[in-house]
Amino acid sequence: MKKDFISLKDFSSSELNELLNLAKQLKHSPRQSADYLRGKSFALIFQKPSNRTRVSFETGIFQLGGNPIYLAPDDISLGKREPTADIARTLSRYVDGIVARVFFHQDILDLAKYSSVPVINGLSDLSHPCQAMADMFTIQEKFNALKGLKMAYVGDGNNMTNSLLIAAAKLGMSISVATPQDYAPDAGYVNAARECAAKTGAMITVTQSPQEAVRGAHVVYTDTWVSMGQEEETEKRLKDFEGYQVDEKLVALADEKFIFMHCLPAHRGQEVSASVIDGERSVVFDEAENRLHMQKAVMIFLFTFKH
Ligand code: CP
Ligand code: NVA
Repeated sequence: MKKDFISLKDFSSSELNELLNLAKQLKHSPRQSADYLRGKSFALIFQKPSNRTRVSFETGIFQLGGNPIYLAPDDISLGKREPTADIARTLSRYVDGIVARVFFHQDILDLAKYSSVPVINGLSDLSHPCQAMADMFTIQEKFNALKGLKMAYVGDGNNMTNSLLIAAAKLGMSISVATPQDYAPDAGYVNAARECAAKTGAMITVTQSPQEAVRGAHVVYTDTWVSMGQEEETEKRLKDFEGYQVDEKLVALADEKFIFMHCLPAHRGQEVSASVIDGERSVVFDEAENRLHMQKAVMIFLFTFKH
């Protein structure tokens, strides 16, 4: 039976640790796996723009000897030209895997349900698991650990927040999320994170106070206040998020060895000040690089998965 990579909720702590180890090996000995996807093709379905996800998947598949096929929003017109189930069943006759970036998470679930090949979530309105795992890998590289650390997430409780909550909880890292009242992360993800945290010893906190979240944090994370698909709400959001910018004053409350993280694209002067994102504690381009290594690990993991 095939295995998909849709939500980190579907993976055990030990499987996530396996992915971290595999990504580390791939980063340090990239040649070892040069032929892993030889003869295999991947369809990359994108309903939204992308720099990191598209380029890191295309490059990663190429480096593993495979063939990436990029499908832009107007190419197959997911959800418009034919039923998603038919797209999934058709693509399964040609390719060995599907990566999809969609507006509605249900479209990823439908692709996975009707395809006979692994489906990887390249971002939906609900989650961004590839980015969250690349971030865990980056934190582990910087601190040599995840357990015992505290992440502060400040800003919009969005797809990034949901995936970070699960990743942190499963890997034993505490996470404190600070958002304005109407922008809290998905309650289902918060509850799932709390359940996992009870087993790993992580602490999950949801607050409206950026200061409370950041105090003593080893990692300070933020993301855009206006995610793809929310452009019409820009004016309202910029007003609602006043006071939530990650700036010098806020990060002064963090641990003295803190790192700053952002999945990118970033908006200097909105969710983060230029001085913080371009400052010496920022690791945002290490995160971007690690997308490549982590996603290669995910693809190898899915093809070698034993039930
Ligand atoms: N972080 C991330 O997913 O970037 P892109 O939107 O450029 O792929
Ligand atoms: N929350 C952002 C993440 C971009 C990588 C979005 O969905 O647009």
